[in-house]
Amino acid sequence: MPTITYIEADGEQHEVAVAAGTTIKDAAIANGIDGIVAECGGNAMCATCHVYVDPTWADRLPAMEPVEDELLEDTASPREATSRLGCQVAVGDDLDGLVVRLPEAQE
Ligand code: FES
Repeated sequence: MPTITYIEADGEQHEVAVAAGTTIKDAAIANGIDGIVAECGGNAMCATCHVYVDPTWADRLPAMEPVEDELLEDTASPREATSRLGCQVAVGDDLDGLVVRLPEAQE
């Protein structure tokens, strides 16, 4: 079972174990982690599931689709080099130990 560590904007950390294939967004919501709004429910329409992937993991994530790239241009907190949409990244065993930071604001 892969684990994901979420680091809130204030530095508080949460490590959760998730079933392989769970998205970063779904894992946060299922575990009551604040900082992901997911207004569109994971349909790649809102950009309120924005996360900053730890740079040591960024290259190991699957490439983003054009729709994700486009939505990341319209996030409430500034886009960074390792920004991703939490609903578009499923975490398998290959991403066990993934670390993501949550932005200051999602809307
Ligand atoms: S939940 Fe809306 S884009 Fe990810």
